[in-house]
Amino acid sequence: TDAQHQQHFDDKIAADTAIEAKDWMPDAYRQNLIRQIGQHAHSEVVGMLPEANWLTRAPTLRRKAVLLAKVQDEAGHGLYLYSAAETLGCSRQEIYQKMLDGKMKYSSIFNYPTLNWADIGVIGWLVDGAAIVNQVALCRASYGPYARAMVKICKEESFHQRQGYEAAMAMANGSEQQKAMLQDAINRFWWPVLMMFGPSDTDSPHSAQSMAWKIKRHSNDELRQKFVDNTVPQLEALGMTAPDADLAWDEAAGHYRFGAIDWSELYEVIKGRGQCNHERLQAKRRAWDDGAWVREGALAHAKKNAATAA
Ligand code: ACO
Repeated sequence: TDAQHQQHFDDKIAADTAIEAKDWMPDAYRQNLIRQIGQHAHSEVVGMLPEANWLTRAPTLRRKAVLLAKVQDEAGHGLYLYSAAETLGCSRQEIYQKMLDGKMKYSSIFNYPTLNWADIGVIGWLVDGAAIVNQVALCRASYGPYARAMVKICKEESFHQRQGYEAAMAMANGSEQQKAMLQDAINRFWWPVLMMFGPSDTDSPHSAQSMAWKIKRHSNDELRQKFVDNTVPQLEALGMTAPDADLAWDEAAGHYRFGAIDWSELYEVIKGRGQCNHERLQAKRRAWDDGAWVREGALAHAKKNAATAA
C-alpha cells in the first residue's frame, strides 16, 4: 500500500540509505528533485557562455587551452545532471525546452557580463569556489544518481577553482593596472556570488522540506557563511579586498561577519531582469535552432543503420 511505501521511504531517509531510480518515492520528492537537478543542469550549460566570451581573447595559448578544457567540462557536468534528472522520469528535451522558454531557472550568477580577462580568473576562483561549497554538500544528497554525479563534478570543479585562483594570482602579482583590473572584477562579482547560495533561510520556500528529505544537508545561509570563511583569507593572500565595509572577523563566533545582501537584486535577476538574461537565452535558443541539422542528420543516420541491420 501507499502507507507501506511511504514508511519504507521514510525509513531509508532516516537511515541515510540512498533512494535509487527504481525505488518508490513520494511524487513531491520526485518533482522537487526534477526542479533542482534541472535548474542545476541548466546552470552548467548556460554557465559556459560568459567564459566562452573570452576563449578567443585569452592572453596566452596556455590560458586558452585551459579555459577551453574548463568550458568543455561544464558541458559534461550538464550532461551528467540531465542524465540524473532523466532517471526521475522527465524527458531531457522537455526540461531543456522549459529553460529556453524562460519557464525553468538557472543560476543568477550567469546573468552578469564578463567585461575583461580578470573576470575569467574571478569566475573560476569565486563562482566555481561557491559552486564547490554547495556541491560538496550535495554529494551526500539522498537521491543516489544526483549524489554520484556530484562526486565527479566536485573533483573537476575544484580543479576549476584552482585554475581561477592561479589566474587571479598572476594578476595580483602583475602591474598596477592588472591589480586594479582584478580588484574591479572582485568588486563586481562579490555580491552576486554570495547570492548564488539562494535567499536567506527565512525566505527560502523549499529549504525545510528539502532538508527533511536530506536533499539539502546544509541551509543556504550556512553554506554562504562557509564560503565567506573560506574565501576571505584567499582575498587577503592576494592583497585584494571585498566591497563590504562590514566584513570583519568575529573571534567569539569563529566566523567572518558580512554586510547586508541586497536581496532585491537577486529577485530581479531570478525574474529575468538581470543584465544578461535576454542575451543568454537568445544565445541558447540560437544554438538549439542552428543545431537542428545535426540532430536531424544523426537521426537519419541511425535510421539508415537500423534498416541496413534489419
Ligand atoms: N539563482 C537562480 N535561482 C535561485 C537562486 C539563484 N542563485 N537561488 C535560489 N533560486 C530559486 C530557487 O531555485 C527557487 O526557485 P523555484 O521555486 O522557482 O524553483 C527559489 O529561488 C527559492 O529558493 P530556495 O527555496 O532557497 O530554493 P532551493 O531550496 O532549491 O535552494 C539552491 C536554492 C541552493 C540554489 C539549490 O537549488 C541548490 O543547491 N541547487 C543545486 C546547485 C546549483 O544549482 N548550482 C548552480 C550554480 S553552480 C554552477 O553551475 C557552476
